[in-house]
Amino acid sequence: MLNQEYNLNYIINRIPERPIIGIVLGSGLGEFINQLSGKVQIPYHVLKGFPISTISGHTGEWVFGYIHNIPIICASGRFHIYEGFCFEEVVMPIDIINNLGCKKIIITNSAGCLNTNWNIGDFMLIQGFIDYSYMKNSNNCSIIKLNSPIGKIEKVKTKFNNIGYNIRSGIYTWTLGPSYETPAEIKDIISLGGHAVGMSTVPELIRALEFNLDVIGLSCLTNYGAGIINKNLSHDDVLKISMSRAEQFSEILSQLIQLLN
Ligand code: HPA
Repeated sequence: MLNQEYNLNYIINRIPERPIIGIVLGSGLGEFINQLSGKVQIPYHVLKGFPISTISGHTGEWVFGYIHNIPIICASGRFHIYEGFCFEEVVMPIDIINNLGCKKIIITNSAGCLNTNWNIGDFMLIQGFIDYSYMKNSNNCSIIKLNSPIGKIEKVKTKFNNIGYNIRSGIYTWTLGPSYETPAEIKDIISLGGHAVGMSTVPELIRALEFNLDVIGLSCLTNYGAGIINKNLSHDDVLKISMSRAEQFSEILSQLIQLLN
Protein backbone atom coordinates (compact mmCIF):
# COMPACT_ATOMS: atom_id res chain seq x y z
CA MET A 1 0.00 0.00 0.00
CA LEU A 2 1.26 3.50 -0.78
CA ASN A 3 2.33 5.51 2.24
CA GLN A 4 -0.25 8.18 1.58
CA GLU A 5 -3.08 5.65 1.42
CA TYR A 6 -1.78 3.90 4.57
CA ASN A 7 -1.57 7.21 6.47
CA LEU A 8 -5.02 8.31 5.39
CA ASN A 9 -6.55 4.99 6.47
CA TYR A 10 -4.60 5.08 9.72
CA ILE A 11 -6.07 8.49 10.58
CA ILE A 12 -9.60 7.64 9.39
CA ASN A 13 -9.62 4.50 11.54
CA ARG A 14 -8.79 6.51 14.66
CA ILE A 15 -11.16 9.46 14.38
CA PRO A 16 -14.89 9.28 15.12
CA GLU A 17 -15.94 11.17 11.99
CA ARG A 18 -14.52 13.12 9.06
CA PRO A 19 -13.37 16.65 9.92
CA ILE A 20 -14.95 19.58 8.07
CA ILE A 21 -12.09 22.04 8.44
CA GLY A 22 -8.32 21.48 8.42
CA ILE A 23 -5.96 23.78 10.27
CA VAL A 24 -2.18 24.11 10.05
CA LEU A 25 -0.73 25.57 13.26
CA GLY A 26 2.42 27.66 12.98
CA SER A 27 5.36 28.23 15.31
CA GLY A 28 4.29 28.76 18.92
CA LEU A 29 0.58 28.61 17.99
CA GLY A 30 -0.02 24.97 18.93
CA GLU A 31 -1.74 25.87 22.19
CA PHE A 32 -4.98 26.22 20.25
CA ILE A 33 -5.52 22.47 20.57
CA ASN A 34 -6.30 22.97 24.29
CA GLN A 35 -9.61 24.48 23.13
CA LEU A 36 -10.73 21.23 21.52
CA SER A 37 -12.99 18.61 23.08
CA GLY A 38 -13.05 14.91 22.21
CA LYS A 39 -9.44 15.08 21.11
CA VAL A 40 -7.69 12.29 19.19
CA GLN A 41 -3.94 12.83 18.88
CA ILE A 42 -1.84 11.03 16.30
CA PRO A 43 1.92 11.71 16.40
CA TYR A 44 3.49 12.12 12.98
CA HIS A 45 6.06 9.43 13.76
CA VAL A 46 3.45 6.66 13.75
CA LEU A 47 2.68 7.41 10.11
CA LYS A 48 4.66 5.95 7.21
CA GLY A 49 7.03 8.21 5.32
CA PHE A 50 5.54 11.26 6.99
CA PRO A 51 8.08 13.99 7.84
CA ILE A 52 8.89 14.82 11.47
CA SER A 53 9.17 18.47 12.55
CA THR A 54 12.74 19.26 13.53
CA ILE A 55 12.42 22.73 15.04
CA SER A 56 11.31 24.00 18.44
CA GLY A 57 7.77 25.35 18.67
CA HIS A 58 6.41 22.60 16.40
CA THR A 59 5.00 19.53 18.13
CA GLY A 60 4.53 17.09 15.27
CA GLU A 61 1.10 15.54 15.60
CA TRP A 62 -2.36 15.46 14.09
CA VAL A 63 -5.04 16.55 16.52
CA PHE A 64 -8.68 15.80 15.72
CA GLY A 65 -11.30 17.43 17.95
CA TYR A 66 -14.43 19.51 18.24
CA ILE A 67 -14.90 23.22 18.67
CA HIS A 68 -18.47 24.59 18.79
CA ASN A 69 -19.36 20.94 17.94
CA ILE A 70 -17.60 21.29 14.59
CA PRO A 71 -15.20 18.41 13.81
CA ILE A 72 -11.82 19.75 12.78
CA ILE A 73 -8.32 18.39 12.34
CA CYS A 74 -5.13 20.30 13.14
CA ALA A 75 -1.65 19.69 11.83
CA SER A 76 0.26 20.77 14.92
CA GLY A 77 3.70 21.08 13.40
CA ARG A 78 4.66 21.81 9.82
CA PHE A 79 7.65 21.33 7.54
CA HIS A 80 9.93 23.81 5.87
CA ILE A 81 12.16 23.63 2.83
CA TYR A 82 15.05 24.85 5.00
CA GLU A 83 14.77 21.71 7.14
CA GLY A 84 15.73 19.74 4.06
CA PHE A 85 12.25 18.64 3.03
CA CYS A 86 11.17 18.81 -0.60
CA PHE A 87 8.05 20.64 -1.77
CA GLU A 88 6.00 17.41 -1.87
CA GLU A 89 6.91 16.64 1.76
CA VAL A 90 6.17 20.18 2.91
CA VAL A 91 2.63 19.97 1.48
CA MET A 92 1.83 16.47 2.81
CA PRO A 93 -0.41 17.86 5.59
CA ILE A 94 -2.49 19.64 2.93
CA ASP A 95 -2.81 16.39 0.95
CA ILE A 96 -4.07 14.62 4.07
CA ILE A 97 -6.51 17.42 4.94
CA ASN A 98 -7.87 17.37 1.38
CA ASN A 99 -8.06 13.57 1.24
CA LEU A 100 -9.94 13.50 4.54
CA GLY A 101 -12.62 15.47 2.71
CA CYS A 102 -12.14 18.96 4.18
CA LYS A 103 -13.21 21.68 1.76
CA LYS A 104 -11.94 24.44 4.01
CA ILE A 105 -8.55 25.11 5.47
CA ILE A 106 -6.97 27.67 7.77
CA ILE A 107 -3.21 28.04 7.52
CA THR A 108 -1.42 29.95 10.29
CA ASN A 109 2.09 31.15 10.92
CA SER A 110 4.33 33.54 12.78
CA ALA A 111 5.69 36.21 10.49
CA GLY A 112 7.78 39.34 10.34
CA CYS A 113 5.84 42.59 10.06
CA LEU A 114 6.79 45.02 7.28
CA ASN A 115 4.42 47.86 8.11
CA THR A 116 5.58 50.19 10.90
CA ASN A 117 2.02 51.44 11.41
CA TRP A 118 1.18 47.98 12.70
CA ASN A 119 2.18 46.60 16.11
CA ILE A 120 4.08 43.52 17.12
CA GLY A 121 1.51 40.95 18.26
CA ASP A 122 -1.07 42.12 15.70
CA PHE A 123 -2.62 39.48 13.44
CA MET A 124 -2.83 39.60 9.66
CA LEU A 125 -5.34 37.86 7.44
CA ILE A 126 -3.53 36.78 4.30
CA GLN A 127 -5.19 38.27 1.22
CA GLY A 128 -2.52 37.00 -1.13
CA PHE A 129 1.10 35.95 -1.28
CA ILE A 130 4.40 36.54 -3.03
CA ASP A 131 6.72 33.61 -3.69
CA TYR A 132 10.14 35.13 -2.96
CA SER A 133 11.86 31.74 -2.82
CA TYR A 134 13.18 31.85 -6.39
CA MET A 135 12.62 28.08 -6.48
CA LYS A 136 10.63 28.21 -9.70
CA ASN A 137 11.77 29.90 -12.90
CA SER A 138 8.24 30.93 -13.72
CA ASN A 139 7.93 32.98 -10.56
CA ASN A 140 8.32 36.71 -11.04
CA CYS A 141 7.37 37.73 -7.53
CA SER A 142 3.84 38.71 -8.52
CA ILE A 143 1.05 38.75 -5.96
CA ILE A 144 -1.22 35.69 -6.04
CA LYS A 145 -4.64 36.28 -4.48
CA LEU A 146 -6.36 33.68 -2.28
CA ASN A 147 -9.90 32.46 -2.82
CA SER A 148 -10.89 33.22 0.77
CA PRO A 149 -14.50 33.75 1.78
CA ILE A 150 -13.86 37.51 1.99
CA GLY A 151 -17.30 38.55 3.25
CA LYS A 152 -17.03 36.21 6.22
CA ILE A 153 -13.50 37.27 6.98
CA GLU A 154 -14.43 40.94 7.03
CA LYS A 155 -17.05 40.15 9.67
CA VAL A 156 -14.45 38.51 11.90
CA LYS A 157 -12.09 41.41 11.40
CA THR A 158 -14.68 44.01 12.34
CA LYS A 159 -15.81 42.05 15.35
CA PHE A 160 -12.32 41.76 16.79
CA ASN A 161 -11.20 45.22 15.84
CA ASN A 162 -14.23 46.50 17.78
CA ILE A 163 -12.92 44.87 20.94
CA GLY A 164 -9.45 46.28 20.52
CA TYR A 165 -7.59 43.49 18.68
CA ASN A 166 -5.67 44.62 15.67
CA ILE A 167 -6.48 42.36 12.77
CA ARG A 168 -4.85 43.55 9.58
CA SER A 169 -5.08 42.27 6.03
CA GLY A 170 -2.17 42.00 3.67
CA ILE A 171 0.24 40.12 1.47
CA TYR A 172 2.45 37.36 2.96
CA THR A 173 5.85 36.86 1.35
CA TRP A 174 7.66 33.55 1.39
CA THR A 175 11.43 33.44 1.80
CA LEU A 176 13.36 30.19 1.99
CA GLY A 177 15.30 30.82 5.22
CA PRO A 178 16.64 29.48 7.48
CA SER A 179 18.33 32.80 8.21
CA TYR A 180 16.18 35.87 8.50
CA GLU A 181 16.20 38.25 5.56
CA THR A 182 18.73 41.00 5.01
CA PRO A 183 17.56 44.63 5.32
CA ALA A 184 18.00 44.95 1.53
CA GLU A 185 15.72 41.96 0.91
CA ILE A 186 13.14 43.43 3.26
CA LYS A 187 13.20 46.73 1.33
CA ASP A 188 12.78 44.81 -1.92
CA ILE A 189 9.88 42.76 -0.54
CA ILE A 190 8.14 45.93 0.66
CA SER A 191 8.57 47.46 -2.81
CA LEU A 192 6.94 44.35 -4.32
CA GLY A 193 3.90 44.85 -2.08
CA GLY A 194 4.63 42.50 0.84
CA HIS A 195 3.22 43.30 4.29
CA ALA A 196 4.54 40.25 6.15
CA VAL A 197 7.40 37.84 5.61
CA GLY A 198 7.97 34.24 6.65
CA MET A 199 9.53 30.92 5.74
CA SER A 200 6.42 28.77 5.44
CA THR A 201 2.80 28.70 4.33
CA VAL A 202 3.16 29.54 0.62
CA PRO A 203 3.79 25.92 -0.52
CA GLU A 204 0.74 24.94 1.56
CA LEU A 205 -1.34 27.76 0.08
CA ILE A 206 -0.30 26.75 -3.44
CA ARG A 207 -1.37 23.15 -2.82
CA ALA A 208 -4.63 24.21 -1.15
CA LEU A 209 -5.43 26.42 -4.15
CA GLU A 210 -4.69 23.50 -6.51
CA PHE A 211 -7.27 21.50 -4.55
CA ASN A 212 -9.66 24.44 -4.84
CA LEU A 213 -10.16 24.59 -1.07
CA ASP A 214 -11.58 27.66 0.66
CA VAL A 215 -8.46 29.06 2.28
CA ILE A 216 -7.91 31.44 5.14
CA GLY A 217 -4.36 32.42 6.07
CA LEU A 218 -3.63 33.99 9.45
CA SER A 219 -0.26 35.40 10.52
CA CYS A 220 0.80 36.40 14.02
CA LEU A 221 3.20 39.31 13.50
CA THR A 222 6.02 38.56 15.92
CA ASN A 223 8.74 41.06 14.92
CA TYR A 224 9.54 43.81 12.46
CA GLY A 225 11.40 42.64 9.36
CA ALA A 226 15.20 42.89 9.39
CA GLY A 227 16.52 46.45 9.34
CA ILE A 228 13.14 48.08 10.09
CA ILE A 229 14.12 48.65 13.70
CA ASN A 230 17.51 48.28 15.32
CA LYS A 231 17.05 44.81 16.84
CA ASN A 232 18.47 41.40 15.99
CA LEU A 233 15.92 38.72 15.16
CA SER A 234 15.84 35.33 16.86
CA HIS A 235 13.58 32.29 16.70
CA ASP A 236 13.29 32.38 20.52
CA ASP A 237 11.90 35.93 20.39
CA VAL A 238 9.47 34.90 17.64
CA LEU A 239 8.26 32.01 19.81
CA LYS A 240 8.00 34.26 22.90
CA ILE A 241 5.71 36.71 21.09
CA SER A 242 3.57 34.07 19.38
CA MET A 243 3.09 32.23 22.67
CA SER A 244 2.18 35.48 24.44
CA ARG A 245 -0.56 35.95 21.80
CA ALA A 246 -1.85 32.37 22.10
CA GLU A 247 -5.08 33.30 23.83
CA GLN A 248 -6.07 35.97 21.30
CA PHE A 249 -4.97 33.70 18.45
CA SER A 250 -7.20 30.90 19.73
CA GLU A 251 -10.18 33.25 20.05
CA ILE A 252 -9.76 34.50 16.49
CA LEU A 253 -9.27 30.99 15.13
CA SER A 254 -12.31 29.72 16.94
CA GLN A 255 -14.43 32.53 15.43
CA LEU A 256 -13.07 31.88 11.97
CA ILE A 257 -13.99 28.20 12.31
CA GLN A 258 -17.52 29.09 13.33
CA LEU A 259 -17.89 31.43 10.38
CA LEU A 260 -16.38 29.00 7.87
CA ASN A 261 -18.65 26.19 8.95
N1 HPA B 1 11.32 36.60 8.65
C1 HPA B 1 11.09 35.35 8.25
N2 HPA B 1 10.37 34.49 8.96
C2 HPA B 1 9.85 34.92 10.12
C3 HPA B 1 10.04 36.20 10.59
C4 HPA B 1 10.83 37.10 9.82
O1 HPA B 1 11.05 38.29 10.16
N3 HPA B 1 9.39 36.29 11.78
C5 HPA B 1 8.81 35.09 12.01
N4 HPA B 1 9.09 34.24 11.01
